Amino acid sequence: MTLQPEGDPREIVGTAQAAEEKALEAALRPKALDDFVGQATVRAQLSLLLQSSKIRGTAADHVLLSGPPGLGKTTLSMIIAAEMGAPLRITSGPAIQHAGDLAAILSSLTEGEVLFIDEIHRMSRPAEEMLYMAMEDFRVDIIVGKGAGATSIPLELPPFTLVGATTRAGLLPGPLRDRFGFTGHLEYYSAGELEKVLRRSAGMLDIDVTSEGFTEIASRSRGTPRIANRLLRRVRDWALVHQIPTVDQHAASDALNTYEVDTRGLDRLDRAVLEALCTTFRGGPVGLSTLAILVGEESETVETVAEPYLVREGLLARTPRGRIATDAAWRHLGLTPPAEIPGATLEAEDPHDPAS
Ligand SMILES: Nc1ncnc2c1ncn2[C@@H]1O[C@H](COP(=O)(O)OP(=O)(O)OP(=O)(O)O)[C@@H](O)[C@H]1O
Ligand SMILES: [Mg+2]
Repeated sequence: MTLQPEGDPREIVGTAQAAEEKALEAALRPKALDDFVGQATVRAQLSLLLQSSKIRGTAADHVLLSGPPGLGKTTLSMIIAAEMGAPLRITSGPAIQHAGDLAAILSSLTEGEVLFIDEIHRMSRPAEEMLYMAMEDFRVDIIVGKGAGATSIPLELPPFTLVGATTRAGLLPGPLRDRFGFTGHLEYYSAGELEKVLRRSAGMLDIDVTSEGFTEIASRSRGTPRIANRLLRRVRDWALVHQIPTVDQHAASDALNTYEVDTRGLDRLDRAVLEALCTTFRGGPVGLSTLAILVGEESETVETVAEPYLVREGLLARTPRGRIATDAAWRHLGLTPPAEIPGATLEAEDPHDPAS
């Protein structure tokens, strides 16, 4: 889970979760590798790793899963434990602030157990160093006492499998990254894959949706299964209240429009940013703080919450002189792009790019 500020403006298309949603998510989680939709490469590689370790009768190699929130890292870690028939221990980087916290967990592991550390990039330095040794040699040194009288007691650990998850692989120190035998990078899902996720969830939640209905919801789900499942539940609410037994394309579209999730999955904030850029600043460039004031949000919210998806969708570009709206942004808002988009062709994001 990624931490987001309270009162997240992203209730519909955000990746942060309420407690109620966590329970629902748990119910929708695929339990076996074969039920896990998409991510064909990671799935195939992981399957080999698990089968091999089963044949050899040893704990599987340590696995690092990286990728944006809501793509299935936690789900995969549970699948790894289930496929290995091993117990699963779940903790997270922020929960391990002292080496002692980690020592307590490690020393209670049983043979073959899967230890899942979510947000592993947020672990403290001393704990990280303890983890290096545990991962490589299945051993830790426990420090007893303080100051000059402190002694270290070596402790053997049973072979276990560490599964680390991170949304920011780049923040992991090299020595930690290198100690994972396998790294799986999760990618955003295609519309077709999201439809499969939705079909499966709709079956479990007993919601009747047509093929076109699934396509409509999938196209607004930002490549993210968590968002797809959430939109599906909102569509269900809408259909229930409007007494519509079968959700077709039209119903799905009406429902999601009600929640202000548009055809590309943009929500109110995303659209406000684009509208400010196009109508008030004629496409930019405009500085982040000015843009933030105009949409009535903190700069940080605009930068970390709205911009990544707009950039990914090719609707907004960051240039050294500020944010600009692309041609696609104008068209998405139903506006005609100006003949020349200011700065769009000349300035690249990377100041070292010879093109800029
Ligand atoms: N490949 C998939 N097939 C079906 N459902 C999936 C898949 N991936 C994710 N989901 C669904 O999406 C939800 C979110 O997945 P998960 O919690 O594993 O994401 P995550 O990568 O751990 O996110 P975070 O970084 O926020 O912890 C789960 O409830 C699960 O049902
Ligand atoms: Mg998770």
